[in-house]
Amino acid sequence: MAGLADVNSINALIVGANRGIGFGFVQKLLQDDRIDYPEGGTATHRLFAAHREPVTPELSQLAAQYPDRLILVPMDVTDEDAIAAGIQQIRESVNQLHLVIYCVGLLHNEEIQPEKGLQQITTEPLLRYFQVNSIGAILLAKHLLPLLKHSEPSVFASISAKVGSIGDNQLGGWYGYRASKAALNMFMKNAAIEYSRKSPKTIVALLHPGTTDTRLSQPFQRNVPPEKLFSVDRTVSQLLAVINSLQIENSGQFFSWDGSELPW
Ligand SMILES: NC(=O)c1ccc[n+]([C@@H]2O[C@H](COP(=O)([O-])OP(=O)(O)OC[C@H]3O[C@@H](n4cnc5c(N)ncnc54)[C@H](OP(=O)(O)O)[C@@H]3O)[C@@H](O)[C@H]2O)c1
Repeated sequence: MAGLADVNSINALIVGANRGIGFGFVQKLLQDDRIDYPEGGTATHRLFAAHREPVTPELSQLAAQYPDRLILVPMDVTDEDAIAAGIQQIRESVNQLHLVIYCVGLLHNEEIQPEKGLQQITTEPLLRYFQVNSIGAILLAKHLLPLLKHSEPSVFASISAKVGSIGDNQLGGWYGYRASKAALNMFMKNAAIEYSRKSPKTIVALLHPGTTDTRLSQPFQRNVPPEKLFSVDRTVSQLLAVINSLQIENSGQFFSWDGSELPW
């Protein structure tokens, strides 16, 4: 047994489950007992959906629909105590997780717009980008180790972005978002090395989802050709196929939605 597709029944945690790609994973993992992935299938036994308050009506409704399988876990990833409390809540109902997907991300909000040039750089938004996009994920890696360390394969995937690739950067701009995703990549590469010693069956990977129709991409969709703008459902299916195909030797690597490897 070397990959997630070899496990018959999994416990999963989706972080950033309120909307967008994270919510899409929650929907997909609940849909069927055995999902028809190209690389095989895995049934979800318990699904933990970590969300920031307030919980969205959509997530809340799903939790009411699947009271035995879906468990809501309040978690603001900028607060380490909240992460620790969320993990403790999970440990009270299961002693192992097989799949964790970090889907939290910030590109813009009411106060923050991605910088077009150096003149727009200020400290506070940069700190916020790093807190949400990078530091939350590595704090999770710290607290999750006891739940991911067991005799079956497990995957800890973080949704990164191709614009976080230093080697691929042709256009510039979006300083904070790009740099925080590059930092996420380095954090997870480092965590993959430490996990390989402490939890040798855990695959730590980074995934680029492709441009997906969510709140995050909404203001930037104008120049995206329709065939390159994926629905959440499509993105989630594609990323689950990549996740199911991962083997232990892929730990510490960065993959695009089609399974191809991306440069750092
Ligand atoms: N959409 C794309 O085209 C695209 C492309 C490349 C990479 N990505 C990456 O894909 C991931 C998912 O993004 P998305 O497109 O699904 O965006 P989204 O719809 O805006 O969802 C972002 C999620 O992050 C959560 N979040 C933000 N700050 C948080 C915090 N402090 N604590 C806990 N949760 C927090 C949000 O919670 P609330 O609902 O409470 O705000 C929301 O659930 C991100 O990492 C993003 O960078 C997306």
